[in-house]
Amino acid sequence: MKDSLNREIDYMRISITDRCNLRCQYCMPRGIKQTTMSDILTFEEMAHIVSIASKLGIKKIKVTGGEPLVRLGCCDFIKMVKNIEGIEQVTITTNGVLLNRYMNDLIEAGIDGINVSIDTLNKELYQKITGFDKLGEVLQSLKTLTNYDIPVKINAVSIDLYEYGSQNGIDVLKNDYQNLIELAHDDKIDVRFIEMMPIGYGKNFETINHQDFLQQLKRDYVLKEDQTIHSNGPAVYYRIDGYQGSIGLISAIHGKFCDSCNRIRLTSQGYLKTCLCFNDGIDLRSILRSDASNKDELLAAAIKDAIIHKPMAHHFENMEEISEDKNMYMIGG
Ligand code: 5AD
Ligand code: SF4
Repeated sequence: MKDSLNREIDYMRISITDRCNLRCQYCMPRGIKQTTMSDILTFEEMAHIVSIASKLGIKKIKVTGGEPLVRLGCCDFIKMVKNIEGIEQVTITTNGVLLNRYMNDLIEAGIDGINVSIDTLNKELYQKITGFDKLGEVLQSLKTLTNYDIPVKINAVSIDLYEYGSQNGIDVLKNDYQNLIELAHDDKIDVRFIEMMPIGYGKNFETINHQDFLQQLKRDYVLKEDQTIHSNGPAVYYRIDGYQGSIGLISAIHGKFCDSCNRIRLTSQGYLKTCLCFNDGIDLRSILRSDASNKDELLAAAIKDAIIHKPMAHHFENMEEISEDKNMYMIGG
């Protein structure tokens, strides 16, 4: 359905768990408290919401977390959602640590695309950022993935790596994004860089300004704008001659794309969020778990109402206006 600004809302991201097997400093640093399982929606509850949302025009689902693959039954849930009438596409965003183990199950479930989050290919930096020495596992997963005929994207948050105390910051930084871009050389993998957003612990970090980054990329490569549609999202894509995959920039801060926003987000606790920046939205869990006899009607009305009131644009540029107090691992990016 359309929101009050005539934007077609057909995409829902679902955080299926707030748990994760990594501890990225900007998302879920060590020592955070875990939610009790009973506060988190069951897969049946999540699928119920999807079936109602699909009648209102939601066609594409992204399964996220936390780390979605740490929740047992993730692939069965994907299969369940794929079977809901009106759902045309189900994709997943994962940190890749468990991907090798679940690859076959994901394919069997009918997954339509896999996004793997890798911020750096530098083993030491990876460990500093994520808290774990798991880059090897992730790269192994990536290698296996290229054997399948399925769209693959890399997500790298554009963190200012100077903050990680590298001795020779600029060189590490440069090697680092160039190494990530090389992943698009031999395989049809899209490598996307995402500006760090001031949500949760992300507030403690500076993003790299993508306007500057793009200028730098243009000095390093001959970039051609790529107009083909790659996904549901706001990335601006570029091609480099001789590379199989494209390079994408997702620039929420220095390239605001709210005019074409097509999404809503369901947190693992059943809160339907309409914009990353604000707390606006509606608690669907309390409706799902109420005694009402007309729950489906109430859920549909609530989802409609949330979409109609979707904010016009984020105000990340003005810290005081950011009303979102949840962390990214609850929201799912
Ligand atoms: N800004 C941008 N991206 C973020 N992610 C987590 N926190 C932030 C943030 N503050 C990313 C992860 C992963 C995806 C699920 O969201 O790195 O790629
Ligand atoms: Fe886990 Fe992703 Fe958050 Fe890192 S960014 S802690 S991998 S959910």
